[in-house]
Amino acid sequence: MKLKEGNVAVVTGGNAGIGKSIANKLTQLGVHTIICARREEEGLKTVEEFSGRKGNIFFKKCDVSKTEDIDIVFSEIRSEFGRLDYAVNNAAIGGVASRLDKYPEKVFDRVINVNVKGCWNCMRGELPLMLETGGGSIVNVSSIAGINGADWLVSPYSASKHAVIGLTKSAALEFARKNIRINAVCPGFIRTEMLEDLFKSSPDPKKVEEEITKKHPVHRLADPDEVADAVIFLLSENSSFITGTAIPVDGGYSAV
Ligand SMILES: NC(=O)c1ccc[n+]([C@@H]2O[C@H](COP(=O)([O-])OP(=O)(O)OC[C@H]3O[C@@H](n4cnc5c(N)ncnc54)[C@H](OP(=O)(O)O)[C@@H]3O)[C@@H](O)[C@H]2O)c1
Repeated sequence: MKLKEGNVAVVTGGNAGIGKSIANKLTQLGVHTIICARREEEGLKTVEEFSGRKGNIFFKKCDVSKTEDIDIVFSEIRSEFGRLDYAVNNAAIGGVASRLDKYPEKVFDRVINVNVKGCWNCMRGELPLMLETGGGSIVNVSSIAGINGADWLVSPYSASKHAVIGLTKSAALEFARKNIRINAVCPGFIRTEMLEDLFKSSPDPKKVEEEITKKHPVHRLADPDEVADAVIFLLSENSSFITGTAIPVDGGYSAV
């Protein structure tokens, strides 16, 4: 992949799941990578695990929904690295499984704050840094629930992931002539903590897993690395003419 060694990337939610897999690949490719998340212990464990690579790894503790946290993160990136070339806005929460009319308002607000405001908040920090050094590439992590409706009682999550695609497309248009490409990926069901939580919250986890698996024409769920590969492609120069897209990485789920 055409990623420049020594360049700098930020991956939100890089201490677990899909984000951790993206950080793994970036550091192996020689990109200095800053992971951001709330859980410090998981963050420092990831730093230890990926240290000694061609690309260095760093952890910054933050909540992507908090403007004050994000202002600190990006002002530190400016003073410590002086540049930002790649960004992956991946941090998100699933909320709870509940019918729309019974959905708890507090959880609704939190899902929108983390998943939508968090994505905007991070792009607000990333874009000025990229403009300063002449360009960059951003990938926002949406979902198949951002393309289709979700029939597993997570309407606010689905709304938030549709919004991530709207932010991605609008930002791509605003920055198309500034050498900043902005795309989204829309994963199907991927084996991570988020999915395990969804299974655990159902009365019959095995049955739910079987039903969800069947929704993917390839009849399996994916590993985080399969999403990370698509993200690395979109960050790299190999996708130099691609911007404003939302690419499904879903084993055919959204084609049905
Ligand atoms: N797994 C799937 O099946 C699936 C399918 C489609 C799309 N996705 C999307 O893929 C992305 C990654 O999901 P995943 O499955 O890897 O989830 P995960 O294993 O639950 O990881 C979520 C990550 O986001 C971080 N995070 C959550 N809230 C945060 C906040 N307020 N501020 C900063 N960091 C926060 C978490 O770290 P802390 O808890 O330490 O903050 C963690 O690193 C999400 O955008 C998700 O919507 C996942």
